[in-house]
Amino acid sequence: MTMQRTEQIFMVGGEVEPPFFIGRDEEVRRIKVDMLFSAQNNVIIGPRRIGKTSLLRNLKNSVLNDVLFVPVNCRKITDMSDLFRLTTRALIEVYEEKHKIKGVARKFSEVFRGKITVATRSISEIGGSIEHIGNVYLRFREDDIDAQELVSETFDFIERFAAEVDEPVVIAFDEFQELNKFNEHIFNILKSHMDSNPNVRYIFSGSSVSLLHEVFLKSDSPLYLMAARIRLEPIQKHEVSSYIRSRLALWDITISDTALDRAYEYTDGFPFYFQKLGFLLYQAAVLDNSSSVDTNDVDIAFSCMLREFDSEFEARFSSKFSRQQQEILKSLSQDRIRRLSEIARDMHTPASSLTTSMRDLYYTMTVKKPREGKYGILDNVFRLWIERNILDDTREDTH
Ligand SMILES: Nc1ncnc2c1ncn2[C@@H]1O[C@H](COP(=O)(O)OP(=O)(O)OP(=O)(O)O)[C@@H](O)[C@H]1O
Ligand SMILES: [Mg+2]
Repeated sequence: MTMQRTEQIFMVGGEVEPPFFIGRDEEVRRIKVDMLFSAQNNVIIGPRRIGKTSLLRNLKNSVLNDVLFVPVNCRKITDMSDLFRLTTRALIEVYEEKHKIKGVARKFSEVFRGKITVATRSISEIGGSIEHIGNVYLRFREDDIDAQELVSETFDFIERFAAEVDEPVVIAFDEFQELNKFNEHIFNILKSHMDSNPNVRYIFSGSSVSLLHEVFLKSDSPLYLMAARIRLEPIQKHEVSSYIRSRLALWDITISDTALDRAYEYTDGFPFYFQKLGFLLYQAAVLDNSSSVDTNDVDIAFSCMLREFDSEFEARFSSKFSRQQQEILKSLSQDRIRRLSEIARDMHTPASSLTTSMRDLYYTMTVKKPREGKYGILDNVFRLWIERNILDDTREDTH
């Protein structure tokens, strides 16, 4: 059969939607209710590559008709005026997109780069809260107001706009931990707004446990208990297995149960990794002219995948961690879960000397702590990479 198929088989990278987006029913249901009833704000916390951004995309799709859902990627925000620019523009664009209106965002954008006179005219054609906020930005350009006021005005605008168009607004700050580089001021502003306006809700998404603790769980912090917490876990095994099997079946490739077990064992249900592994399995099958996948194929594809991540993991390992943290990770890589006492023994040091490093590794979601005194590397693919590349090297060195 030589049917030409253009359909993508797996999706690696980027925000995915069905049929590539699986699981997360519970999370979507919960957050959707909160959005529709403007019930509460949410914090989504999860390690890298667990599918936070994709979840936001699907949340947006789930409330498309009812809510102005505005994703803002905080990675792109380098200073407070960026916060203003990205958020206001995104809100207006989402509004345009939803109501199939044209030209408002374009006219508004004049305030960012156009001549002051041109910009003033342009926004006066729009009027309302957009004209107001546009004028605020023009004053900022002329140094009449500072960046902090600009941030405050950003949140005022979101509320005014929501009231004006009479629609609930959800602002979803992705990679929220990036806002931590600004001073606390920003959280104080947020707090006063989160209290006051039921028409606007916030979703914060990120991978920093420390930020979560500092911003939302410390009793003296401005946003203390202002948001419900949702921890993103790996996708469950039965969902991953039936996904891989059904995707491969589209190309008349079968995969054994034991091979699926092996694939899950390696990837641990981390979406980015099972998509990647699935693709490599498909690619190998096509190249070998084979219509079935077994455990051996999974082993080979997985090794291939580790090699592809070599430079990235190498860079992460050598630049993101202190020497002591690197030693801890090496020790941890030997098993999925290890006791603190074992790690300490490996490192010939008292367990108490590891406390600070351990806490930092936990706060950055590098390490999990399933039980008191027990730890494991959260990302199993990274763990296996360390075990095979770093640990084995040192083992050889000592021979
Ligand atoms: N629910 C899902 N079902 C299937 N695959 C998914 C799902 N969510 C994410 N993926 C896969 O994982 C990849 C990474 O997802 P995404 O970018 O949403 O994760 P993230 O947590 O935002 O990652 P990062 O920490 O790098 O920002 C996607 O490109 C896709 O291949
Ligand atoms: Mg992301």
